[in-house]
Amino acid sequence: MTELLHLHAERRGVRPPLRGSREIQGNVLAAFNKDHQQFRFVRFTDGRLGRTWLAAMLGHISVTADVEDFNEAFSLGRAMFGADPQSLKATWTNLSLTPAGFAKLAVNPEAVERDLRVRDAELVQGAEARCAVNGDDPEEWRFGRDAQQIHAVVTLASDTEERLQAVDTLLDLLDDLLGVTKVYQENAGTLPGAHRGREHFGYKDGISQPGIRGFHEEDPDRKGHRFGHAGALLVNPGEFVFGYQTERGDEDGRTARWLRDGSIQVIRRLTQDVRGWEEAVEEHARVLGVTSDSMGAMLIGRHKDGRPLASPVDEAAGLGPDRNDFDYADDPRGLLTPCPAHVRKTNPRSFTFRNPRQRRILRRGIPFGPPYEQDPRAERGLLFVAHCTSIREQFEFQQRVWAGNPHFAGGEDGAPTGTDPVIGGAGEARFETSDVKATLTFERYVRTTGALYALVPSVSTLRLL
Ligand code: HEM
Repeated sequence: MTELLHLHAERRGVRPPLRGSREIQGNVLAAFNKDHQQFRFVRFTDGRLGRTWLAAMLGHISVTADVEDFNEAFSLGRAMFGADPQSLKATWTNLSLTPAGFAKLAVNPEAVERDLRVRDAELVQGAEARCAVNGDDPEEWRFGRDAQQIHAVVTLASDTEERLQAVDTLLDLLDDLLGVTKVYQENAGTLPGAHRGREHFGYKDGISQPGIRGFHEEDPDRKGHRFGHAGALLVNPGEFVFGYQTERGDEDGRTARWLRDGSIQVIRRLTQDVRGWEEAVEEHARVLGVTSDSMGAMLIGRHKDGRPLASPVDEAAGLGPDRNDFDYADDPRGLLTPCPAHVRKTNPRSFTFRNPRQRRILRRGIPFGPPYEQDPRAERGLLFVAHCTSIREQFEFQQRVWAGNPHFAGGEDGAPTGTDPVIGGAGEARFETSDVKATLTFERYVRTTGALYALVPSVSTLRLL
């Protein structure tokens, strides 16, 4: 069946036309979408041995074309047979390097650092230097502090736990052999049963993602949107991968050749306090005189099953809970989707001063830890992973200028707003219903417990190191 599905994918012409689809690593433009994932944060003890390790790793790295072909075949199988095609399984690997990792492996570290700095100063500064900007306390970090010197991050993703374990064992042996120290490891995965596809607060995640021009197909009926994904705006590939047209224009002049087809990776370990969140939702629901479900949806901007507050669902018309074809132009004060709601803060759609396509990120996060009711005392959260080509203008902009800024509304001047209750840290936000107006206070229900900025280089660049 695998071959049949691949054949179909090729006939439909879905093989990505983007020039770098065999150069750009998997999980950047084409998501791994695997239930079992492992993140290995490692350090090289010696540059020469590190390069040998890299040479061994090269054979395992997945490229965009393969991941996208698999994902297309999988969706086709689901459409044809009405269920997930059980015989289609894969295990993928992605490898990123920090600036310190490049310095350890490169034969010309000064030139490498200069090229990185020209393209993204924040990447070179590192997440710890940016902690005040992002509202973090590095004392709480399990990984990512400068003193820890992480050089590389290996992301493994597989459909089965068993296959993931097999690669894990292989990599442990390779690390031991070549003096590579594992500084930290996170095992993450899709939550089980009724929690599937949801993050720990219980909301469906991974719905709104940008499409990529020249990689995803354009909907002939809705120019500028991704075919088959109502509401997914097409964004120029240069917003996520170096060496392509960006929304700001062509930035190739600032990009060293070796950076082409590479992408910046932002990793954040976000620990979630589920009990604290649920208690706050209940308490605030009483203040506003609404149900807990409605209150939670007002904080996120979508219901637990994904239904957006901004737009009704009409399954018969093909507009399910995942619908994404809306903006907030007809809701300038946030009466439908409150301005402090997480999805409105991180993507205000019609209410950005500039082209809204310039602030998008590709989100590749996955939960870690068991569901709350399985073990209330265990630690849990989201291993947030995002891709962009400007940390300051994309990820940090969403985090600092929008989510963490109590004055940013994403609505008309004077619209009631406040900090993003999910990622804005402790703060206040103003909510209005047709009957009640109230200022609600929030504790910090999401804490950053690890952070790292890295670069996912092209396959050719990895070969050159
Ligand atoms: C959307 C949860 C962290 C940016 C969403 C959605 C949920 C969610 C439930 C709606 C579903 C969807 O459209 O995918 C969370 C939780 C987080 C977290 C629980 C932390 C534990 C972050 C961070 C950022 C971020 C750190 C970036 C700084 C976004 C964006 C969207 C989104 C851009 C899509 C908004 C849209 O286009 O409508 N998140 N998120 N999230 N989140 Fe988060």
